[in-house]
Amino acid sequence: MRRAGLVDVLGAAGQINVQGEQQQKLDVLANEAMKQALGRTGRVSTMASEEEEDPIPGSGDGGKYVILFDPLDGSSNIDVNASIGTIFSIHRRCSSTGTGVLEDCLQAGRKQVAAGYVIYGSSTVMVYSAGRGVHCFTLDPTIGEFRLINSNVTTPPTGQYYSINESNYTRWSPGYQKIVRSFKGVENDGIGKNARYIGSLVADFHRNLIAGGIFLYPADTKSPRGKLRLLYEASPLAFVAEQAGGAASDGKTPILDIEPTKLHQRTPLVIGARDDVAFVERTLREVDTASQ
Ligand code: AHG
Ligand code: MN
Ligand code: MN
Repeated sequence: MRRAGLVDVLGAAGQINVQGEQQQKLDVLANEAMKQALGRTGRVSTMASEEEEDPIPGSGDGGKYVILFDPLDGSSNIDVNASIGTIFSIHRRCSSTGTGVLEDCLQAGRKQVAAGYVIYGSSTVMVYSAGRGVHCFTLDPTIGEFRLINSNVTTPPTGQYYSINESNYTRWSPGYQKIVRSFKGVENDGIGKNARYIGSLVADFHRNLIAGGIFLYPADTKSPRGKLRLLYEASPLAFVAEQAGGAASDGKTPILDIEPTKLHQRTPLVIGARDDVAFVERTLREVDTASQ
């Protein structure tokens, strides 16, 4: 990605992926890089990717783990040199034999053994949790290694930022409209939060994790089930959020408790500061349940 523009890797690849979205050349390259690197470890029996319709066989039959990934998150930012990332979710396999097994992919987020992301920003940072806190590593390009910068990262219980694509305002339920008015201070005498929206989930999530904030991508009339994908976007970030003392919900249910039924299923996502997520759930209960 650092050489994008110098070599011919920018722009559309000319194919539509399983989500019905235009694939970028870097989406395709990132997907191949992930498959090759992970396949070689011998530890992965099944992989799944945003860019491929079906589960992908790992190497041999011996791998204990299943890994689901969004190889490149934030496609709309690739060509404009804004932050993008990679998201990964790791489960123990539940099948006893075979590779590329769908059942291994369809596990609730609560069962993840590890999850995290890499953000390609002004520096390259990897954030992960294996269920004992959240740890941040920064790539030191002079030695080609990730160095531990922050261990046991915690996120503030109430955030200073809110992140949402407000151009969808008229497509939201009255509950979400009220929540965003409240974040803007319209309903609270001008006392609100600051807005930040990059349009790369990883980058928006990372800023809010460190600085304190909430990210929302509700269901709306255009995307009635939400836009983001449960298994390789919402679920791994929810694992990190909870491990950092934050929360993640689809508006009603903790993301980590959702039992998946489809590999590419979508979910509404409300993620970040614990008290802000609770405020969103409460307001949706009061406003949307009352208006139904
Ligand atoms: P991807 O590039 O992997 O398809 O994901 C894009 C996602 C996510 O990164 C971001 O939060 C969201 O799309 C932005 O969507 P809008 O442009 O609708 O705001
Ligand atoms: Mn994505
Ligand atoms: Mn992607």
